[in-house]
Amino acid sequence: SNIIKIGLLGCGTVGTGVIKVLEENLDEITPRVGAQLTISRILVRDMKKKRQLPGNAVITDNIDDILNDPEIKIVIELLGGIHPAREYMLKALQAGKNVVTANKDVVAQFGKDMFAAAEKSNVDFMFEASVGGGIPIITPLKQCLTANKLTEVIGIVNGTTNYMLTKMSEENANYDEVLKAAQEKGYAEADPTADVEGLDAARKTAILASIAFNSRVGLDKVYTEGITKITPEDIAYAKELGYTIKLLSVSRDGEKGIDVRVHPALLPQSHPLAAVRNEFNAIFVKGNAVGETMFYGRGAGQLPTASAVLADVIDVARDIVKGHFGKIRCTCYEHKTFCPIEK
Ligand code: NAP
Ligand code: HSE
Repeated sequence: SNIIKIGLLGCGTVGTGVIKVLEENLDEITPRVGAQLTISRILVRDMKKKRQLPGNAVITDNIDDILNDPEIKIVIELLGGIHPAREYMLKALQAGKNVVTANKDVVAQFGKDMFAAAEKSNVDFMFEASVGGGIPIITPLKQCLTANKLTEVIGIVNGTTNYMLTKMSEENANYDEVLKAAQEKGYAEADPTADVEGLDAARKTAILASIAFNSRVGLDKVYTEGITKITPEDIAYAKELGYTIKLLSVSRDGEKGIDVRVHPALLPQSHPLAAVRNEFNAIFVKGNAVGETMFYGRGAGQLPTASAVLADVIDVARDIVKGHFGKIRCTCYEHKTFCPIEK
């Protein structure tokens, strides 16, 4: 049977999740793809660290082992940060490999370069997991809602800070301890400053607004304020008055143009976003045809994020399978474009 080989960059929280979910659900995934997905090489920094790796995978600390392997058709980037993730992804795309990433840092700031390189090599660059963890939001914005003029994308898009605010409000938890707990649960960025200062949410906001409003919204356009100045007293007063403090991502396309911001906000306890607890995220999208829609689920964490990463991988792999079989246009009624069946 067909095998599609994958190079995995990074084997931390999410990388390990991808290995686990692929292993656990392989029997479901293989027939859905029409080929078996196999992680054949894995890039890490520390070769000595103990890890549970898939049977046949070769571990390396040299990116060239992956870039120069012609059998690898898909590269999953889960290193995090800009350097060297950006350079590695660019090289992979230039080498004709499809790239799937969860890296909002690179997508928000250098997405344009990635798309250009992907287009040039006629491959895909996919990033569903970069916003909202396991929640489908990039694909719905790109495809399912694309017939609309979208005017609002508002929500909670950082799991770490939502987890912290929930614990601080419900259990009077201490800021430092609850940040440490979020790190231990695998929700936080390698440097959690990006979470608590609102930068992670700002990156996601730039990505969401760019797709929703079909324009390039730079990170520098996003007003950004995190949760570092929120005190236990703020939380207690808010509660007393019937409010909850949430870190909100707000994107609006109105008469005055595009407005994008991230900041803590007081929400009445009856507000649907006030009920979004712990690492959960929720994103409300308003379109002129569909009206109001809401996307909700786990916004951070190993398995939910792996779910989104693998969805992109499966999407790309299906195209590869079609390409293998279907370079000749099919004449059958069901397969108007490239037929996965006819040779
Ligand atoms: P992580 O646990 O810190 O794992 C990073 C992995 O990359 C580690 O295996 C590390 O190697 C490897 N690595 C880092 N720099 C490297 C380098 N220069 N060369 C080779 N290997 C390198 O990070 P994570 O939480 O899995 O996050 C990965 C990405 O997913 C980030 O972009 C993050 O923003 C995104 N994301 C994370 C979540 C989440 O819930 N955690 C959710 C959505 C998106 P060693 O193991 O040898 O140290
Ligand atoms: N650090 C991020 C968060 C991971 O807490 O939301 C998911 O993108």
